[in-house]
Amino acid sequence: MKLQVQGLAFSYEEKKILDGIDFSVKEGEFVSLLGASGSGKSTILKLLTGVLKPEGGGMAVDGQAIRGISEKFAYMPQNDLLFPWKTILENVCLYGRIHGSAEVMRREAKENFSLFGLDGYEDKYPAQLSGGMRQRAAFLRTALCQADILLLDEPFGALDVITRGEMQDWLLSMRKRLNRTVLLVTHDMDEAIYLSDRILILGQSPARITGEIAIEEKGRTREWLYGQGELRRALHRQIMGETKA
Ligand SMILES: Nc1ncnc2c1ncn2[C@@H]1O[C@H](COP(=O)(O)OP(=O)(O)OP(=O)(O)O)[C@@H](O)[C@H]1O
Ligand SMILES: [Mg+2]
Repeated sequence: MKLQVQGLAFSYEEKKILDGIDFSVKEGEFVSLLGASGSGKSTILKLLTGVLKPEGGGMAVDGQAIRGISEKFAYMPQNDLLFPWKTILENVCLYGRIHGSAEVMRREAKENFSLFGLDGYEDKYPAQLSGGMRQRAAFLRTALCQADILLLDEPFGALDVITRGEMQDWLLSMRKRLNRTVLLVTHDMDEAIYLSDRILILGQSPARITGEIAIEEKGRTREWLYGQGELRRALHRQIMGETKA
């Protein structure tokens, strides 16, 4: 198992946010964590990356317990911001950990610009890019980290519905090439259905994993997604806390 989370518990002051979160993610698997706003999704990612310290429970990557800040994870926080005074290339190279020199890092980053739809924008500033392009730049920065597991916190949440759709199509097409284990946090049911091998449903107050749905479909298209009414209904029922249908 690539990632194993067991009994993860956390409180903010007196308020219990997470109560015994258990789940695991296989090598190369794309798993979404789907839950309502405020349910504790970002908190789970912050605990994994070591930004916050768990009150109970823990996690392991490749069978080894992880404590504190770990290089196993590349983290794209919610509302990721690029520094406005740095060029896109400088922004993209900011956190990347690539063994070798800064020159090697820049070369690797540049090679990926066209794959991320950013060709020709290396020396532009964030304000000169569209919202979708800025998200792709933030995403490229995360993907360049040589970490096994990508943690994505609502990477497209701040985008308009059309751009978000384009970004989801792009991410779907990128999945094979990224070749990474991904844990995506979202409250967008269609996004979770479209992109995931498995969806974990997070109930709230305090948050626990209340359900799980595996999606086997290999040939995903928007047309396929529009036809997933039954799946959407099942997810909705589980999110609303009804017993499994
Ligand atoms: N720094 C903090 N201090 C106190 N409470 C907090 C803090 N950060 C978050 N919370 C509370 O913890 C709960 C979970 O927050 P979290 O950010 O994990 O939710 P979320 O599922 O990511 O929501 P969203 O979908 O809106 O991003 C919320 O009730 C929130 O009010
Ligand atoms: Mg959040």
